This record gives sequence, C-alpha cells and structure tokens, in this order.
Amino acid sequence: MTTIYLNGEYLPGDQPCISPLDRGFIFGDGIYEVIPVYNGHLFRLEEHLDRLDNSLASVTIKTTLSHQDWHDLLDELIRRNGGGNQSIYLQVTRGVAARDHAFPRDISPTIFAMSNPLKAVAAEVHEHGVSAITLEDIRWKYCHIKTIALLPNILLRQQALDAGAVEAILVRDDEVTEGAASNLFIVRDGEILTPPKGPLLLPGITRDLVLELAHQAGIPCRETRIHPDELKSADEIWLTSSTKEILPVTHLDDQAVGSGHPGKLWQRMIAIYQDYKQDYPGQVEQHD
Ligand code: PDD
Repeated sequence: MTTIYLNGEYLPGDQPCISPLDRGFIFGDGIYEVIPVYNGHLFRLEEHLDRLDNSLASVTIKTTLSHQDWHDLLDELIRRNGGGNQSIYLQVTRGVAARDHAFPRDISPTIFAMSNPLKAVAAEVHEHGVSAITLEDIRWKYCHIKTIALLPNILLRQQALDAGAVEAILVRDDEVTEGAASNLFIVRDGEILTPPKGPLLLPGITRDLVLELAHQAGIPCRETRIHPDELKSADEIWLTSSTKEILPVTHLDDQAVGSGHPGKLWQRMIAIYQDYKQDYPGQVEQHD
C-alpha cells in the first residue's frame, strides 16, 4: 500500500485523517506542488521549493520547514514508496480552525504529501500529438499562486475532455495565458515563443527548463504576449508540465496545427529534454 506523509508521520495510505474543519477542505485555503521523481531522485527540487516559498508567502502561510527538511521528508516518502519514477504531490493548508474567513491565530499548517505513479507519456502521444481547444480564462487574477482551489481549472479541463481534446488553452482579454494545467509555447518561423510570467499564469518549472535548454542549444526563444490569432497561424504549439513534460498539440479547435504532426522543433526539444533528464544530477550514479 502507498505511504502518505501527514504532519510529521508516514502512514499507510488508508490511515491519515484530516479534520473536516481544515481550511483546505472548508475554503480551499492552501497551496500545492507536483514534483516528478526519476529513478528515485526529485527533479528540479530547488526550483519547486522556491515556487512553494513564493506561494506560501503570497497567501501568508508559514511553515518551519527548510528546503533541507523538505528534501529529507520527500526523500523518505519516495523511499517508502519504492523509489523509481513517481509524481510527488505536496500540499500545505492554513490548518484547522472554526470556520471564519479571517486568518485564525496560532494554528499550525497542515502538511501533507503523497506519491502517485509517474506514467511515461504514451508513445502514440509523441507520434501523433494531442488536441486542444481554446476557452475563455475564467480563473482569478493570482494565477501565479499554486493554489489548491482549482475549480475553474477543473471545469475548463473537463470541458476540453468532453469536446474530445486533452487540454484547454486559455484566453483572457485577447491574450493567450496557459493551459488548464500546463504552460504554452508556440513556434513561429523557427522561434519559440511563450507568454511572459506574471499574475495571469503559473510560473511553470518545465516552462523555465524548456527556455533554459533552448538558450543553451542556441534555439531562438522569446517571452512575449501571444494573441489568439497567433495560435491559429503557429507552426507548432506545445504544452508543458512536470507530469506531461512537453506535449505537441497537433490539432486546435478541430484545425490542424502546422502540418498536423508533431513539429521538427518539438522533436529537437523533447530529445534535448530527455538528455537533460538522463544527465540530471543524481541520475547518473545508481547504487543498489
Ligand atoms: N500542474 N499551469 C498550470 C495552471 C498548472 O497547473 C501546471 C502544472 C503548469 C505547469 O507547471 P509545472 O511545469 O511546474 O508542472 C502550468 C500540475 C502538474 C498539476 O496541477 O497536476
């Protein structure tokens, strides 16, 4: 059975109990991270913990955990769940208190982490790409905070699934922001473009890595606002996230993107990404 971490304890998956008065349950008053693990090693942990710190500070939740504490805690969770490839979900809520909108005084945050299997993206997805639809971005205006209050994201993703697509690409005031659970890139004339960071989108760890790797490889890339019309004329569209890595979107709103097949630049970038994963610190030396 899977092992779950809750407030200092590692417990079998069916045992942890959280109070119904937890503000995460009552208000969605909490934040989260999703971190991939390859061969038992956390991938880009520092970047995820920096974003966690930003989310916590943005909603004024304080924990006593240092980055090293998080590292130790998550390493132990990974070990207890058998190592290999995992997707770590961690969540911090403001804690348990009588229901009142005002921040309660003197309560401890609830700290929760679990492991889910990290499934490799199916070969056919890389072969044919995926479909997406564009939808109005109905979320709030603090999308840079990785809040657990994901109802708009869920509704948007479900609308995409019901339309036979895998992701909703969101548009706010004539600007493309991101996917319901992913960041967005387009390719135009050999250049990679992605919307700039700011309150309208989550600063994705995979997004930043793709930009970093593109720079290193000398592939032109730029952070710039993207108009919905530019999606229609893009040579390629990609979606990035920690669990799906880089997905080529080959159909948007039932129209082919570019050739309707995963593009040349995507093929190059996914190869660079896989090489980076392979060589990532901690991946190389495996001792059993
Ligand atoms: N979601 N934008 C949104 C709204 C997201 O929810 C995610 C990730 C991303 C990509 O961020 P990253 O590259 O750091 O995973 C962008 C996670 C995977 C989830 O909610 O399960």
